[in-house]
Amino acid sequence: MRIGIVGTGHVGGTLARLFAKAGHEVAVANSRGPDTLRGLADELGERARPATVEDAARFGEVVVVSMPVGRYDGLPADPMAGKTVIDTGNYYPERDGHHPDLDQDRTTSSELLQRHLPQARVVKAFNTMRWDHLREFGRQSSAQRRYGIPVSGDDVDAKRRVSDLIEQVGYEPVDAGRLAEGRRHQPGSPVYLADLSGAELHTQLGTP
Ligand SMILES: NC(=O)c1ccc[n+]([C@@H]2O[C@H](COP(=O)([O-])OP(=O)(O)OC[C@H]3O[C@@H](n4cnc5c(N)ncnc54)[C@H](OP(=O)(O)O)[C@@H]3O)[C@@H](O)[C@H]2O)c1
Repeated sequence: MRIGIVGTGHVGGTLARLFAKAGHEVAVANSRGPDTLRGLADELGERARPATVEDAARFGEVVVVSMPVGRYDGLPADPMAGKTVIDTGNYYPERDGHHPDLDQDRTTSSELLQRHLPQARVVKAFNTMRWDHLREFGRQSSAQRRYGIPVSGDDVDAKRRVSDLIEQVGYEPVDAGRLAEGRRHQPGSPVYLADLSGAELHTQLGTP
């Protein structure tokens, strides 16, 4: 599959590595431009290419957005229309600036991204685990214990697609419900940074 990765820091860079290793083609983009990503693309080999944000978004059948939530406003909407967009973001007001609707839990950061990308199919995933754990724990999963990754979104097919990717990199996807339910796996929730197994996540989230 072709995967565009917008934001190639701790989490986006980790996902680029995991997805390339799983056999996907990745286009990686950041705020500073493709020239700054040649090292990462070289490391990832022939399946990777540096790109602008616009080009990575156009390239991907699936697009990962992995950047500070406060920067979502600048993302181009057209190239992501109709696509599955994975939102790894977490709202930290000290970094992102205060957003009253988020501060008062009237909405979630993923719903704000969905509002900004109205024709995309936003799925919140890969947001609960520290990036260095995400890098390692999939490889350490066994039949007895697979770490779980909550997935929330409004589009069933998009969630299925993201869940397949989660499985391919060694984790158990756990359906957390609709996009608004992303609040159940955002900062401050019991499952956030808890490194739970899939079974433990199901119990915590009360999912079948
Ligand atoms: N760190 C974690 O363990 C962790 C775990 C789960 C979820 N998260 C969440 O995932 C998101 C990414 O976290 P991170 O730790 O990976 O952040 P990070 O290391 O600071 O990387 C952020 C990336 O976003 C890029 N970026 C910033 N503004 C941009 C823009 N306007 N257009 C395109 N790219 C832009 C940056 O580009 P430049 O390098 O050019 O500045 C950088 O590649 C955050 O919302 C974070 O809260 C983090």
